[in-house]
Amino acid sequence: MADAHIPATWYTLEQQLNTRWVARPLRVLAAVDSTNRILKDGAAHGETTHGMTILANHQTGGRGRLGRSWSSPPGSGIYASVALSLDPERLSGVLSLVAGVAMTEAVRDVTGLPVGLKWPNDGVGNGRKYAGILVEAGAFPSPWAIIGFGINVLGVVPHDLPNATNLETLAERPWDRAELFLRLMERFEAWYDLWILEGDEPIVARWSELTVTLGHLVQVMRPGQPAWVGRALVLDRDGGLWIENDTGERIKVLSGEVSLRLENGEYAATSKGS
Ligand code: BTN
Repeated sequence: MADAHIPATWYTLEQQLNTRWVARPLRVLAAVDSTNRILKDGAAHGETTHGMTILANHQTGGRGRLGRSWSSPPGSGIYASVALSLDPERLSGVLSLVAGVAMTEAVRDVTGLPVGLKWPNDGVGNGRKYAGILVEAGAFPSPWAIIGFGINVLGVVPHDLPNATNLETLAERPWDRAELFLRLMERFEAWYDLWILEGDEPIVARWSELTVTLGHLVQVMRPGQPAWVGRALVLDRDGGLWIENDTGERIKVLSGEVSLRLENGEYAATSKGS
């Protein structure tokens, strides 16, 4: 496995970007605890700007959803965070779907793999998780959202993460992380701009095409409550997922609250402890 260093091709990434504002500026780091943490701290000190992006070759304290950790070995993945300064009224679960749609399209474009999305925004391929997105929003002190992308690209998938995979394993060939990152930033800018212009509808529609969750039996796990099994029906306009059990009872789940397992066992978590 490669050491924590900055790959030579990453020094010119910013010049190669076809974006207007995403990843402008771009900071590339050999190693960091968490790319999300850097941008959050920067926002608290007035140093983070809209579109500012951090890309690291290694994270020593990568963070996942629901307080989990995110395995981020050197030279293996894309660990990147984008800062957004946005109107608090726009902040909803749909923002995380914008990121999921962009990531899935970028990976499909570059690799041709038929990857999909497990609600809300886990990247899955062949029934296993290859990527996750952590959205952290708040007033730090002005309103910010930090979108953290973790994509497993290269190397051997650790045995202690049996539901995880990476793009090299899925395709049986390695991929250029720089190319994937460039495409991710471009797709994210395009979908975010569309969301600001046209609202939730096109995002919800595209997400619904890319998901592997709708129509399937799922198990909802909420902290301190027994698992709840039902069929994933439809995505609400706010990004929440409606689920119906076999007695016809319906609940709507929001991404901050739950983790979801596909009942056929095809669920995957790269995060440790899930
Ligand atoms: C998940 O639990 O599915 C979300 C994982 C998100 C990981 C990424 S890696 C880059 C960014 N920095 C972090 O500490 N976490 C996110």
